[in-house]
Amino acid sequence: MSRHKPLVFSGVQPTGNLHLGNYLGAIRNFVRLQQSYSCLYCVVDMHAITIWQEPQELRNATREVASAFIAAGVDPKAHIIFNQSQVAAHAELAWIFNCVARIGWLNRMTQFKDKAGSNREKASVGLYAYPNLMAADILAYRATHVPIGEDQTQHLELARDIAQKFNTDFGVPDFFPQPEALLQPEGARIMSLKDGTKKMSKSDPSDLSRINLNDDADAIAKKIRKARTDPEPLPATGKELESRPEARNLVGIYAALSDTAAGEVLQEFAGSEFSRFKGRLTDLCVAKLGPIGAEMKRLMADPAYVEGVLADGAARAHAIAAPIMTEVYDVVGFIRAR
Ligand code: AMP
Ligand code: TRP
Repeated sequence: MSRHKPLVFSGVQPTGNLHLGNYLGAIRNFVRLQQSYSCLYCVVDMHAITIWQEPQELRNATREVASAFIAAGVDPKAHIIFNQSQVAAHAELAWIFNCVARIGWLNRMTQFKDKAGSNREKASVGLYAYPNLMAADILAYRATHVPIGEDQTQHLELARDIAQKFNTDFGVPDFFPQPEALLQPEGARIMSLKDGTKKMSKSDPSDLSRINLNDDADAIAKKIRKARTDPEPLPATGKELESRPEARNLVGIYAALSDTAAGEVLQEFAGSEFSRFKGRLTDLCVAKLGPIGAEMKRLMADPAYVEGVLADGAARAHAIAAPIMTEVYDVVGFIRAR
C-alpha cells in the first residue's frame, strides 16, 4: 500500500479555442472529480510556450482556460486553480527530472514526433523536454490520480518511469507515488463536425468543425445545422452506426450531454430524419453550453477576479509543493539554508 494521499492533478494548455471536445473530454470530468478528491487544476502556460505563443494571446488564453474551469463548475475555494508559471516548483523539479529521464525515453515520445514534424532540428528544446515538465507538474504535489485524454497516456507512463527511477537512484522507496491515469470512456472522444474520422480540434482551420465554449446560441445552431451527416435516417442500434462516423459522433455528443448511453438516444430517435435530430441536439447544446459560455464571458470581462483566483491558487499550490521540494533538494544533495 502506498503512503500517498489521493490527490488529483491535471493540466490544460492555454492555446486558444476551447471547444466541446475539451469540455466533454476533460473539463466536465474535472468538475465531477471534485466530489471524490482534492484537486489541483493547472493552466500550463510553461507547456504552451514550447511552441511559439504571442505574449498577449497567451495571457488571454490563460484567463480563458481558468474562466472555463470556473464557469463549468470547478470550485476555486474548495480546490485549486492556478497557472503553472506562478509556482516555481514546476520549473525546479523539471530540471531535476531532465537529469533523471534518459534521452532514449524521450526519443520514443510520439507527441514530440507529431508536433516537431519533419523539421526536428528546428523544434525547441522545451518541446523535447515537455514530458519531464509534465512529470514535475504531477510529482511536485505527489499527485496520485491524473485525468487525461488517451493522447497523454504515454506521457503519464513516462512520469511513472521518472518517479520510479528517482526513487531507485536515490534509494528512497516510495518517495514519489506512481500516478495513475483516470481515462475517460471511449464515448468521450468528440470528432470534428466536418469529418467524423478526425478529432474535434482547436487547430482545425475551419471554425465550423467545432463548437467553441464561447459560441452563442446562433453560432451553435448554425454549426449543428451545417454539420456533415449522411442521407440515411437514424438507425435503431449502435452497431449500425459503426460505418457512419458523422452520425455516430452526433449521437455520441447527444448521449454525453444528456448523460445517457448512445443506445438510449437511438431508441428515442430511431427512424428520425437528421433535421429533427439536429434540432433537438441544438436545443441540448444550447441548454448545456449556453450558461457556461455566458459565465465565461462574464469572467473574461473581469480579469482582476480571474487573476485573483490564479494568484490565490498559486499560493496554495506553492504551500503544498514547497515542503516536498525541500525534501527533494535534500535527497539530491543540494545545500539550502535551513
Ligand atoms: P488539447 O485541446 O488538445 O490541449 O486538449 C486539452 C484536453 O481536452 C485534453 O485532456 C484532451 O484529451 C481533451 N480533448 C481535446 N480534444 C478533444 C476531443 N476532440 N474529444 C475529447 N477530448 C478532447
Ligand atoms: N500535456 C497535457 C495536454 O496537452 C497537459 C498537461 C501538462 C498535463 N501537465 C499535465 C495533464 C499534468 C495532466 C497532468 O493535454
